[in-house]
Amino acid sequence: MTQRRMMEELSWEDFNKLPLEERAPYFLQSSGRPYHCVIAQQFDREALDKLCDLATRIRKIAKSKIGMDFLSNLMRNKRAMLYFTQPSTRTFLSFFSACQILGFSPAEVRDPSISSEMKGETKEDTIRTFSSFFDLIIMRTPAQGFAEQMAWMLSKTDRPVPIINAGSGKDQHPTQALLDIYTLERSFEHRGGIDGKTVLFCGDLARGRTVRSLSGLLLQYKNVKQIFAAPDHLQIGQDILDRLTANGVEFKVTNDFKGQIKNADAVYMTRIQDEWDTNPGESSKGYKHEDYYFTGDDLKILSPKGIIMHPLPRRLEISTDCDDDPRAVYWRQERNGMWIRAALIATIFCRDQEITNYYMLNNR
Ligand code: NCD
Repeated sequence: MTQRRMMEELSWEDFNKLPLEERAPYFLQSSGRPYHCVIAQQFDREALDKLCDLATRIRKIAKSKIGMDFLSNLMRNKRAMLYFTQPSTRTFLSFFSACQILGFSPAEVRDPSISSEMKGETKEDTIRTFSSFFDLIIMRTPAQGFAEQMAWMLSKTDRPVPIINAGSGKDQHPTQALLDIYTLERSFEHRGGIDGKTVLFCGDLARGRTVRSLSGLLLQYKNVKQIFAAPDHLQIGQDILDRLTANGVEFKVTNDFKGQIKNADAVYMTRIQDEWDTNPGESSKGYKHEDYYFTGDDLKILSPKGIIMHPLPRRLEISTDCDDDPRAVYWRQERNGMWIRAALIATIFCRDQEITNYYMLNNR
């Protein structure tokens, strides 16, 4: 296996020092399809377009019982482990549902206190154990880079199985970025797609992994401007800004969220992630909630064709009186996660062409 040969040449420590873009090819199959899905930088524009198209086909096929029968037969011989040791509702459920749609039998470990980790087993051995029983591992952990390291480790064993990163620490959430791209694509379908749009990110940009991954995927689109609105202590990391500069992307960093709404095609709200605070209450110091809050009044300022997104869960970032506005797409965004994750898994297991063939014959 090429991937394994490539990995044998490098230690994890050396590999981990490489820039993300140079690490990305190691997680792909020789056909260019993802094998593991651990960092957003694995996906180029062609791969994103293919995944979005496949998600739409799966979504349409799944509307009929006969279509669901076809889909749920695809992976009936495979089992998936959902290893989520950080809180999750929608990411867990959408992966669970995506697995069911494709016919996987999903199993879960969500509480490490009832696994052998409590007997002192290392996380590495736990993952290796999963690979003895399952054909796919979907994992969410508080540890930055852990999913990537486990993908690296498993690829060198005799029983490599794909790893999908469902959120790793504060650094990456690649499948959230995929569903965000799918949502942007669908929302701007009749407005020339994502190219040329302006995305305004707001909230805890320092610790929100969804923004970090989505900012990376937006580099694949032409002339997309990125605006980061947050108080200074929660502002986006310099590494992200350096990447935008290196790619010649126009961006703006500001405290003035309200003043930027009129310039945005998509407003992407995020919550304050105070679970990462070293000292309780540290993130709310000097944080004026009303400055970073999207209200019913702001609907009047947002472009009539603009959209409001949120990875959810919501706390106090968007007032509920926005929920019925057609520009509020966060509930659709959440559901899109199920379709794009099904598309990703089908692609990893090389069933994408079969789905496309079925769609061409039955759904066009
Ligand atoms: C996000 C996450 O876990 O990073 N949630 C999600 O996956 N939809 C955002 C958050 O927790 O605020």
